[in-house]
Amino acid sequence: MIFPANPFKPTAGVMPPVLIGRESVVADFDEGLSDGPGAPDRLMLITGPRGSGKTVMLTELGKMASKHRWMVIDETASEGLTDRLISRIAPEPSRISGVSFKPSVMGASLGEFSIAPALRPSTLRDAMTARLHALGKGKGLLITLDETQDASIEDMTALATAAQHMLRENAEVAFVFAGLPSLISDLLNAKVLTFLRRASIKELGDVPLQEVREAFSSTIHGAGIGIDDEALDIATEATGGYPYMIQLVGYHMWRHARRRQDGPSNVITVDDVHSGVEQARAKLGEGACAPVVKQLSERALDYLNAMAVDDGPSATSDVAQRMGESMDYANIYRQRLIGEHIITSPARGQVDFAIPFLREYLRSQKHG
Ligand SMILES: Nc1ncnc2c1ncn2[C@@H]1O[C@H](COP(=O)(O)OP(=O)(O)O)[C@@H](O)[C@H]1O
Ligand SMILES: [Mg+2]
Repeated sequence: MIFPANPFKPTAGVMPPVLIGRESVVADFDEGLSDGPGAPDRLMLITGPRGSGKTVMLTELGKMASKHRWMVIDETASEGLTDRLISRIAPEPSRISGVSFKPSVMGASLGEFSIAPALRPSTLRDAMTARLHALGKGKGLLITLDETQDASIEDMTALATAAQHMLRENAEVAFVFAGLPSLISDLLNAKVLTFLRRASIKELGDVPLQEVREAFSSTIHGAGIGIDDEALDIATEATGGYPYMIQLVGYHMWRHARRRQDGPSNVITVDDVHSGVEQARAKLGEGACAPVVKQLSERALDYLNAMAVDDGPSATSDVAQRMGESMDYANIYRQRLIGEHIITSPARGQVDFAIPFLREYLRSQKHG
């Protein structure tokens, strides 16, 4: 038998063979769509570090909405967001008030038309209303926004204002925002976005290891490949329950087994797992940690290395001491690293890594 195609997908935004440990989020959203206007899960905020599965979750929720015969608009926060939304939502952009056909006029140009900035919130709302009308009874509109932490205040204001009105009018709409965890404090501090306080917040944390093990087992056995208990345990443990690492470990142990010339065929051995895990760690370091570390100043990196001494959250006083600096001085770097979503402050006087496996990466760099 020829070794089958590799089912694991260690690529950002690509659907994994099994969506592990996220059933409740999907079920809550499904229920929200069924329950009708006013259901809390029709306004959702998904948070988690990079590689925790936010983009994939937006795709999954979009699929769920399509099943309910809703229209789905997926967007990613970047310049021109509101105008893009309007152009995609409005069935006939030319008939929406606020849209003019004079590209020479100030304001963002959208190919053949442009929207005056002050009119964006109400134009977006009109576009949604017109679309719902065109869709007809029983159909709704889902808007998903990825990388919400990168949205400008103007775009978020327009979207929040329009969303708030539509939800208040009991329209058949749903909004799902996804972004880094720091988004919550950023957003909730901005007065204009208080409406997101009412969002149903879903934090995508680590997946329970038992579920990782079951998913590995069913994916591998389902493809007609064998793996014994010990190999399965080692692979599961190495993922730490972090979704991106689950795909990396799965992918590399599979590849090692497929390319191997000797030993049992159509089986993933303990040896394959050991090699796969090693490659997965290297990939994770290279892909997720190295780019972050590279853009840091020397002292900021010193701050992180001082944290990496601990196995869990660090006391800010310990970090300052290890750096040989005052608390005030260390605090400058603390603030900067929090602002860049690299560390978080889980409690007063404490800091922890916001990027999975960054601690392990820093340690491996230090000791060769
Ligand atoms: N629930 C999950 N179970 C298994 N693998 C997952 C899960 N969610 C995401 N993945 C995988 O993790 C990686 C990162 O997913 P992605 O949605 O891009 O994360 P994020 O948008 O949070 O950075 C992808 O390779 C994806 O296939
Ligand atoms: Mg993403």
